[in-house]
Amino acid sequence: MTLLLTPRDVAQIVQAQGIAGALRRLMREIEADFRRWSEFDKSPRSASHSRDGVIELMPIADRTLYSFKYVNGHPGNTRLGLPTVMAFGVLADVATGEPELLSELTLTTALRTAATSALAARAMARPDSRTMALIGNGAQAEFQALAFHHLLGIHEIRLFDIDPAATAKLLRNLRHVPGLALKACASAAEATRGADIVTTATADKTRAAILTPQMLSPGTHINAVGGDCPGKTELHPGVLQAAHVVVEYEPQTRIEGDIQQMPPSFPVVELWQVLSGRSPGRQHDTQWTVFDSVGFALEDFSALRWLRDSAHALGLGVPTELVPPLDDPKDLFGQIALHTRAAAIDTLAQRAARDALARSRESA
Ligand SMILES: NC(=O)c1ccc[n+]([C@@H]2O[C@H](COP(=O)([O-])OP(=O)(O)OC[C@H]3O[C@@H](n4cnc5c(N)ncnc54)[C@H](O)[C@@H]3O)[C@@H](O)[C@H]2O)c1
Repeated sequence: MTLLLTPRDVAQIVQAQGIAGALRRLMREIEADFRRWSEFDKSPRSASHSRDGVIELMPIADRTLYSFKYVNGHPGNTRLGLPTVMAFGVLADVATGEPELLSELTLTTALRTAATSALAARAMARPDSRTMALIGNGAQAEFQALAFHHLLGIHEIRLFDIDPAATAKLLRNLRHVPGLALKACASAAEATRGADIVTTATADKTRAAILTPQMLSPGTHINAVGGDCPGKTELHPGVLQAAHVVVEYEPQTRIEGDIQQMPPSFPVVELWQVLSGRSPGRQHDTQWTVFDSVGFALEDFSALRWLRDSAHALGLGVPTELVPPLDDPKDLFGQIALHTRAAAIDTLAQRAARDALARSRESA
């Protein structure tokens, strides 16, 4: 049986663990997996580009578990009443290939992205960081805000979005978070002025320069989440040129990240190297640091395992026959006959019920 988890199940997991607890657990799982980097069979995700967006498949495996995520990125979707990012994924047993879990990953992507951002920032931002600018206040934004508040101690967040309704939605959603001050700003420049950390989570299928060198103070950490596809960037090249840049998985980020604007020899460090102490997250207090995040399959692998374990502990999800249960594993064809018979019996039973209802109405 494969356990099926819907967005409602994931919301219940988050409710049971609390948003801070869920983000903390996810961060721990993701960190543990990044620290055993060499144990994973890794590849850049496979992307299918079209005029309005991209659909991607993200596989990864260790010796016991395999996972993949299906995810899209369509910045124009919100105008059609659909999210920009939608996802689901599978966790499977490497020994047999049997799928263990089929889960929603739209909510989970926002959770794992925020947990990964906080994990990178913990190793890269100045430890005394307390203020953050959050540019792009769409679907990912609350998750980012809460991860930085709960996991890093950020207590003031300045918001900017070209769509004031997105900022108003964020203010509404997070107005009751104790100890978190939120301020709407009139421009990205106003939001970033003096900020210790800047998170960019904008969606536009274009080479944007949301952040320019003039907007940043010495020592700022930049958590660049939205530049995650060829032809889709957020940072001015001058910011990257002057910064210490950390990426998730270099072969993928060279194609998709903000560093797509830089020559192939532009130096970057991978996050696992920072987390395992092989390379510093920042070299000095006044340096700009950039986490050029695009989202890597390992983060979804960790998240799917967290979902599976949490769902088991809480008794959530529906065991589903995704694969036919066979008495004789070689008799797959027998399933067709079995289900045809079952369907015929159902039809007969439905007809009998309909006839009985009609008779009872006639006699009434
Ligand atoms: N790195 C990762 O792992 C990861 C994970 C999930 C999403 N993403 C990316 O993050 C981005 C945000 O995702 P989302 O789900 O929140 O999308 P969304 O469409 O819900 O929100 C994006 C917001 O950006 C705003 N925006 C666009 N251009 C802007 C600009 N120039 N200045 C300020 N605001 C601007 C839009 O008005 C919108 O409110 C997307 O590009 C998505 O692909 C990355």
